[in-house]
Amino acid sequence: MRPYGCWVDGVGSRPAQPSSPPACDRAHHVAMRRRLLLIGGIATLGGALGVLAKPALDSVRRSLRTSSSPGVGAYDRVAGVFLGGYYDGIAADCAGVLASMEHPAILEVGPGPGHLAERLLTRIPGASWTGLDVDPAMLAAAARRLAAAGLVERSATVDADVAAMPFDDGAFDLVVSSLSAHHWLDAEAGFREIRRVLRPGGVALVFDLSPLLGHAETGLHGLRTAAAAFGESEWRRYRGAGPWTLVWRVELTAQP
Ligand SMILES: C[S@@+](CC[C@H](N)C(=O)[O-])C[C@H]1O[C@@H](n2cnc3c(N)ncnc32)[C@H](O)[C@@H]1O
Repeated sequence: MRPYGCWVDGVGSRPAQPSSPPACDRAHHVAMRRRLLLIGGIATLGGALGVLAKPALDSVRRSLRTSSSPGVGAYDRVAGVFLGGYYDGIAADCAGVLASMEHPAILEVGPGPGHLAERLLTRIPGASWTGLDVDPAMLAAAARRLAAAGLVERSATVDADVAAMPFDDGAFDLVVSSLSAHHWLDAEAGFREIRRVLRPGGVALVFDLSPLLGHAETGLHGLRTAAAAFGESEWRRYRGAGPWTLVWRVELTAQP
C-alpha cells in the first residue's frame, strides 16, 4: 500500500514512513480544502441570493396575477403610451353620467397607477375620488400621479379587495372600473359589494375584456358575473377589432 500519493512505484527505494506528510501531499490537502471552501461559499451565496430574490419573485408573480404585468413601473409605462385615448373616453363617459351632480363621490376599483383617476378629477372639478386596489404599489403610483397633478386633496386610496370593501352602504354616486374585473378572484362577491356601496339610483360603469378573453387570460369569470348582483346589466361594445369585441362597457344601476 502506498502511504502517500506522491511515491512512485519502481523509482528509487520505498521511502521510510515519514512522520509528517511530504510537501506534495500538504499541497494536495490545501488544494482540496480550498475547493471545499469554494463549493461551500458558492452554495451559501446561492442560498442567500435565493432568500433575497424570493420576495422579488413573489412580487412579480403576484403582480402578474392581479394586473398581467411584472410590476407597476412596466404597467404604468405601457398604459401611458397606449391607453391615453381609452382613458379619455371613459372619463368623458363618467362625466356624462354625473353631469347633474356638483360634488359626486366616485369609487374606482382597481385604478392601477391612476391614469383614469387623473382624467376624472380634471374633468369633474367638484368630484372626490377613492381608489381601491389590492396592490399597494399601484395605489402608491396613483397617489404620486395625483400629487404631481395637484389633485391629491380630492383623492383617497384604500388597500382592499373589491369582494370586501370597507365602505358604508350607499357611500358612492358612481363606481367605475377598467381592465380589472377579470382579475377579481371572487367577482360575484365584488359585484355584490359594488351594488352595496352605490347609493340608490347610483351607477357602476365597468369596462373590461370580453369574458372569453378575460377567462383565457386569468381563468376567472369577471364580467360574466356582473348581472347577478344587479338583476340587469346593459352591455355595449367599447373597443373592438372587426367583428370581435375586445372591451365591453357594462352599465349597472343600483335600483332603489
Ligand atoms: C390591469 S390593471 C388595470 C389598471 C387600470 N384600471 C387601467 O385600466 O389601466 C388591474 C388592476 O386591478 C387591481 N385588482 C386586481 N384584483 C383586484 C381585486 N380583487 N380588488 C381590487 N383591485 C384589484 C390590480 O391590482 C390592478 O391595479
